[in-house]
Amino acid sequence: MMVGALAAFFVLFVPMGLAGWHLSRNKVLFFSGALFISLAIAVHLTPYFPSISRLLVPLPSSSPPVLSPISCLSSIHDVFWSSHDPPSWSWSRSNPALSCGFQKLTRSDASDLLNGSRIIVAGDSQARLLALSVLSLILDHTAMDTVRADLFKRHSDYHISVPENGADLDFVWAPYESNLTETLRRIEVNERYPDVVVMGDGLWHMLHFTSALDYGVALRDVRRSATGTGRSRHMFWLGMPTLVSAKLNTEEKRMRMNMSIWASYEQEVNSSGLLRQFGGPFLLLDVGLLSRGCGSRCTVDGMHYDEVVYEAALHIMLNALLIESHQRI
Ligand SMILES: *[C@@H]1O[C@H](CO)[C@@H](O)[C@H](O)[C@H]1NC(C)=O
Ligand SMILES: *[C@@H]1O[C@H](CO)[C@@H](O)[C@H](O)[C@H]1NC(C)=O
Ligand SMILES: *[C@@H]1O[C@H](CO)[C@@H](O)[C@H](O)[C@H]1NC(C)=O
Ligand SMILES: *[C@@H]1O[C@H](CO)[C@@H](O)[C@H](O)[C@H]1NC(C)=O
Repeated sequence: MMVGALAAFFVLFVPMGLAGWHLSRNKVLFFSGALFISLAIAVHLTPYFPSISRLLVPLPSSSPPVLSPISCLSSIHDVFWSSHDPPSWSWSRSNPALSCGFQKLTRSDASDLLNGSRIIVAGDSQARLLALSVLSLILDHTAMDTVRADLFKRHSDYHISVPENGADLDFVWAPYESNLTETLRRIEVNERYPDVVVMGDGLWHMLHFTSALDYGVALRDVRRSATGTGRSRHMFWLGMPTLVSAKLNTEEKRMRMNMSIWASYEQEVNSSGLLRQFGGPFLLLDVGLLSRGCGSRCTVDGMHYDEVVYEAALHIMLNALLIESHQRI
C-alpha cells in the first residue's frame, strides 16, 4: 500500500516538476514515461526482486543511492547465455548486476517507456537489425510483417510512427562513418530533436578500405559532430559483431575481415574517444561481446546474428535509459 501510494505520488508529481524545466514536451513525456515504468516494475515485482526497491529508495530522499548509476551502467553487460537451443540470455545473478535489478521490458513497459519519443538508428545492417528489435518489442506480430518487408528493402532509409504510443523511429542507412557525421549534422538543424540516438559502423569500412587508421580518422569526425550537438542525452554506439571468418560468404570478406583486423578497428573506436568510458557521448552497446556470448551457432553468414543478440542489446539499452532517467531526478 505504502509503495503504491508513493508510486502514485511520483507518477503524478515528478513529471509536473520536470515540466517546469526547459525540456521539450517530448522529453517530459519521455522522462515521465521512464519514471512511470521503473516505479510500475518496482510495485509489481518488488516481492520477487527486492533489489529493485533498493535502487528506487534513494529517489524520494536525498541520501546517496545504495548503488550508483555508474556502477550499474558498468555491469549492464553482465549477461550469460544458455547452451540450450535456441540460445537465450539473462543477466548475471551475482552482484553487482543482481543488485541493479535489470529487467527485460515487456511490450507494454517498453511502449510506455518510449511513449512520444523520437528515436534515430543510423548505421549499417547491424543497426538495421537493432531497429528491427525495437519495433518487434513494441509492435504486434501482424504489424511486424509489413515492417520487416519495408525495413529490409536494401540500402534505404525507413520511417515509422507507432500509433500505439506516438513514438517515431527513423532508420538511416549510413554504412560509412561520413554518413554518420552527415546524419548528426542533419539532426542538429532538425526542429524535433531525437530523444534516443543509436549509431554504429565498421564492417563496410573494413571490407572496402581495410584500414584501421582511416577508420579512426573518420570516427574522430563522428565524435566531433556528436559532441558539437551536445543536446541529445541518450546516445548509444552499436559495437561491431564478432566475426566468424569461416562462415563469411564471399572470398573478399574472408580475405579482408578477421578478428585481428577487427581488434584494430575496435582499438580505433576506443582511442577515438567516442565512447562514454573514454570521455565521449556514446554509451557502448557491446554487440561484440553479446555475439561472442551467443556463439557461432547464432550466425549463418559470420557477421549477422540471430535476433536474440540484438534483442539483448536492446534490453541493455532500455535499462540504461531507465538508469539515466533516474539519474537526472
Ligand atoms: C502514449 O501515447 C499515446 C499516443 O500518443 C497517448 O494517447 C497516451 O496517453 C500516452 N500514454 C502514456 C502513458 O503517456
Ligand atoms: C555515404 O558515404 C559515402 C562515402 O562518403 C557516399 O558515397 C554515400 O553517398 C553516402 N551515402 C548516403 C546514404 O549518404
Ligand atoms: C586478417 O586480415 C588482414 C587484412 O584485412 C590480413 O592482412 C591478415 O593477414 C588476416 N589475418 C589472418 C590471420 O587471416
Ligand atoms: C577497448 O576498450 C574496452 C574497455 O576498456 C576493452 O575491454 C577492450 O579490450 C578495448 N579494445 C581494444 C582492442 O583494445
